[in-house]
Amino acid sequence: MTADKPIGVFDSGVGGLTVLKALRERLPGESLIYLGDTARLPYGTKSAATVSAYALQAADALVSLGVKALVVADNTSSAHALDVLRAHFPGLPVVGVVEPGAVAAGHASPHGRIVVIATESAVRTGTYPRSILHARPAARVAQVPCQLFVSLVEEGIVEGPIAEQVARHYLAPLLLDPPDSERGDCLLLGCTHFPALVPLLRRVFGPKVVIVDSATTTARAVEEVLENRHLAAPASDRPASVRYLVTDAPDRFARVSKIFVPWAIAPDGIETIELETLPETAG
Ligand code: DGL
Repeated sequence: MTADKPIGVFDSGVGGLTVLKALRERLPGESLIYLGDTARLPYGTKSAATVSAYALQAADALVSLGVKALVVADNTSSAHALDVLRAHFPGLPVVGVVEPGAVAAGHASPHGRIVVIATESAVRTGTYPRSILHARPAARVAQVPCQLFVSLVEEGIVEGPIAEQVARHYLAPLLLDPPDSERGDCLLLGCTHFPALVPLLRRVFGPKVVIVDSATTTARAVEEVLENRHLAAPASDRPASVRYLVTDAPDRFARVSKIFVPWAIAPDGIETIELETLPETAG
């Protein structure tokens, strides 16, 4: 593994671009390969075995392209499969989004009343509460599966009455209805798509709720790992490259990407690949 290789980033689809954006902002000299498993999303409603098998296949495709580190941008895969991936690729730095977000929420929450919003499948693992309690043992953690948010964001419905009603439906019981001393004081965004909802969430739940976005905290964790392992990209005159791979529907990926990143991704610049089944690990 050498420092001039790219970093591999994978997600179930397009939402992991929030993590890619944070990586580009924090580590502008690093070349990146982004893989969105658009043929099989969502991961957030799937079983542990399926998510782990998919994550291994996606990681394997990136490793075969010679990446120097792997970023699991997908929260559902991070919650289910981080240990499996680390065991499968010994020596390769593997950074997920759960732990950096959990640690950041543990620090940021004023009174330790933390609300995690994530996909159904990620919530089922209990990985978020475990990681938060590890960082802040006295915290009180509640989790809410917010699957509808994923579809709303992909439709570009991130403001307005529909999005607001869904946000209230999921979160008013924890962030608005209880008395001040019982209310959640920190909202951890445990899903790739949710950073797009931050303006709405701030407006509906007010400035007292601290919002922690795992994309930016993950970029910081990646920087630290690269420095510790002497894998940070050497200074170069050439701009860092970003390569995009999907498993289906590059046109849709390009269109929906506009919700997540401010730069344009041209459909004909996106490569479509097939992921190999790994019989010894799948299932
Ligand atoms: N990327 C997923 C996550 O962060 C959300 C979309 C999906 O369910 O595949 O959990």
